[in-house]
This record gives sequence, structure tokens and C-alpha cells, in this order.
Amino acid sequence: MRENLRVLKTSYMYTHLCIITYFREMGDSDDDIPKLSAETMAALQEFYGSQETDDISENWSLSQFWYSDATAEVLAKEALQAAGLTGRIACVACPTLYQKLQHLKPATCTTVLLEFDKRFAIYKEDFVFYDYNTPLKLTNLQENSFDVVVADPPYLSEECLRKIAQTVQFLSSDKVILCTGAVMEDLARELLGVSVCLFIPSHSRSLANAFRCFANFKTHLLNQTVADA
Ligand SMILES: C[S@@+](CC[C@H](N)C(=O)[O-])C[C@H]1O[C@@H](n2cnc3c(N)ncnc32)[C@H](O)[C@@H]1O
Repeated sequence: MRENLRVLKTSYMYTHLCIITYFREMGDSDDDIPKLSAETMAALQEFYGSQETDDISENWSLSQFWYSDATAEVLAKEALQAAGLTGRIACVACPTLYQKLQHLKPATCTTVLLEFDKRFAIYKEDFVFYDYNTPLKLTNLQENSFDVVVADPPYLSEECLRKIAQTVQFLSSDKVILCTGAVMEDLARELLGVSVCLFIPSHSRSLANAFRCFANFKTHLLNQTVADA
């Protein structure tokens, strides 16, 4: 599906470039041929720019498995509801959630992305370089300064979850959502006081391991069954 979209987008972009080139070349020799207005050009550039920033491909050597669009949307809506209009949300190693939040959040809500992959530095001041091996090296982030912290550790290991939990506890003032393998349930409860939710997260590619969401508060969308929806 993602590959089809990429092909579709590339051919769409190619068609536009052909049209633009045609207008530019013809424009020099014939004043009657219309040229693309500055506004149209700006709109096209903005469209292509936003497509590229949202389309950072998975790097499996960094254990990157992106959420499906539907899952990113459910998580974003849950986080926004929990944070409130002027809330602060930290996305720890979950860049597609951060991206979805940019589309859904009100301007009054603050979001930050803590991520190891520096491609996401395109998000400028919202990007904080983060390596779970140094869980409390968090440049410019204050203790207990986020209403909602959402984390998705790169590895299904006790060491990784223990270190990410240190980060989450440092940042969090209240609500926590953790997305990870179902096998981490007991350790997640011990470290972060979170319980498993009904909602089953899905990814853009199917994964071999069973994934779950966990939360330390009464969620709305994450505890909805299909029948409730
Ligand atoms: C399982 S993926 C979670 C992504 C999430 N499902 C999403 O769609 O946004 C794990 C994330 O951890 C990041 N990561 C990899 N190595 C890391 C490290 N040493 N420290 C912190 N994060 C790391 C990856 O870049 C990736 O974004």
C-alpha cells in the first residue's frame, strides 16, 4: 500500500514537473501561453515539501516500524484529549505520532519529539536528540514538564524498557501511554504503573510480535472496542 502511494506520488510529481517545464519553456517564446502564478508555485512547493517531511522511510537497523495511519490517529486523539487544549505532549521514539499530532493539534498545545534518528531534526526546535542508553541526557527539557508522555521503545528488552521508563518518569507530570510488545506487560506495570488497553495498535507493515498499548489513566479511545465505536 505504502509502496503504491509512493509510486502514485512520484508520478503525480513528475506530471506536475512536466507541466511546469512546459509552461516555462513556452513562456519565453509566446506571451499568450499562461505561466503558473507565484501562488500556484508556492502551493505546489508547500505540498511537495510537506509530503517529503511526512514520508521518512523506515530504517529497520534502527528498529523503526511506523504505525498505520489509523493507529497514529487514535493515539494522537487520545493524547490530545488527555493533554487538554494547552497541554504539553512528549513523543518518545514515536515520530509518526508526532507527525500526526502536527495535523490535529490546536496551536495552543505543545509537542516535542525525542528521537535518535537525526532525519527528524527537520522538526527544528521540537526535535530533541535522544538515545535511550543515556536516558536522562535530555537537553533543555525540564523535569515533570509534560502532561502526557507517549513512548514506543525500539527494543523488546528489559534493559531498553527500564531506561526508557527512567526518561518517561523524568518528563511526566501525569499521564503515560506506552506502546510495546505484549510480552513487556508485567515489567511495564512494575516500572510505570501502566495497564494494558483494549486497543490493538497496528503498523504499516505486519509485525511478528503482538503489540499493545498501555496507559496509567482511564483512556477513552484506547479502551474502546469496535462495538463501542
Ligand atoms: C519501534 S519504533 C517506534 C516508532 C513508532 N511506532 C512510530 O510509528 O512512530 C522505535 C523508535 O526508536 C528509535 N530508536 C532507535 N534507536 C534508538 C536509541 N538508541 N534511542 C532512542 N530511540 C531509538 C527509532 O528511530 C524509532 O523511531
